[in-house]
Amino acid sequence: MARTAVIGAGAWGTALARLLSENGHDCILWSHKEKTIRMLKETHSLDKLPGVLLPENLSFTCDLKEAMTGRDLIVMAVASPGTRETACEMKEFLKKGQKIVTVTKGIEDGTLMTQTDILEELLPDAVYAVLSGPSHAEEVVRGLPTSVVAASKARLLAEYVQNIFMSPVFRVYASPDVLGVELGGSLKNVIALAAGMADGMGFGDNCKAALITRGIHEITGLALKMGAFDDTLYGLSGIGDLVVTCASMHSRNRRAGILVGQGKSMNEAMDEVGQVVEGVYSARAALRLSEKYKAEMPIIREVNKVLFDGKDPKAAVEDLMLRDKKIEIRIQENELPESWKSGTKA
Ligand SMILES: NC(=O)c1ccc[n+]([C@@H]2O[C@H](COP(=O)([O-])OP(=O)(O)OC[C@H]3O[C@@H](n4cnc5c(N)ncnc54)[C@H](O)[C@@H]3O)[C@@H](O)[C@H]2O)c1
Repeated sequence: MARTAVIGAGAWGTALARLLSENGHDCILWSHKEKTIRMLKETHSLDKLPGVLLPENLSFTCDLKEAMTGRDLIVMAVASPGTRETACEMKEFLKKGQKIVTVTKGIEDGTLMTQTDILEELLPDAVYAVLSGPSHAEEVVRGLPTSVVAASKARLLAEYVQNIFMSPVFRVYASPDVLGVELGGSLKNVIALAAGMADGMGFGDNCKAALITRGIHEITGLALKMGAFDDTLYGLSGIGDLVVTCASMHSRNRRAGILVGQGKSMNEAMDEVGQVVEGVYSARAALRLSEKYKAEMPIIREVNKVLFDGKDPKAAVEDLMLRDKKIEIRIQENELPESWKSGTKA
């Protein structure tokens, strides 16, 4: 049995705290909101996960010192705009060598940092892993089979996280590719906004399939230039998470996209969804990364124009359809088959 803490009592943090308790670990769930902790203590349930009763052995606190003291593993599960602030508050209670696994998805606008970049900068005495993949909280709490990936630069830590979370309904793969896992998990939210917009305009399954396929192509192109492994982007935290996010109504990014496709502004859509829509925060960062690494990301560029310049999403789709003609696969001119080299007769 491990002593664990989950920092952030949103839908995902609470679902993972439940999983850890059911796996036999001691677990305490922390929120900065007293109202949330009161609800959890009084009802053993969370309004974001209706109908789900939390285990008796799970405890709750608003006190960060109590949450962090004497823990073998800390799970960071606050929404990405809260990571920096929460990490600053955690500093005074952190022990040297503390194991932390982040489950938050998002690239920070402005700094272009991933979640582990931010945590490593602010809390350099800890060691880090990332847990990510197609895993809607609403399904995990119902015990529906789910597979994810635990990545860390240290093999022992990736395997430690794998062991702690693994259950008959929650399969965890280990990976050394922290960057690839974080990029896949964060950038898919931007593509999910585009898929939602297509749904909101009634553009059908062909269009969505194209956005998913070309979306992962864009994400992979950037991730490879940044040093990630392509298998990661074609794995659970890449295409796996992209497919689930683009297809499911549990996805707040997709739901926000649908509203924008139906004619709402980005702010109206975020208000109506009522939760943090992380793709909006990662969209600008993704565009800046594409410029920095000279990676072509036309879908991400058009999502930015719709979100921040008020471009009509229909015009964005038309511009995507009519952009320069391309070869589908990533290939250099000198790698083409002889019959494709320029000058060869049709
Ligand atoms: N919901 C899911 O199914 C799911 C699955 C996998 C990964 N994730 C990722 O997990 C993270 C959390 O998602 P969620 O669904 O639990 O979100 P949520 O909106 O339900 O909860 C986020 C939590 O972060 C807290 N928070 C926000 N700003 C904060 C701040 N400044 N300081 C302290 N706490 C703050 C909120 O109070 C809340 O407890 C996200 O990055 C999300 O992408 C979610």
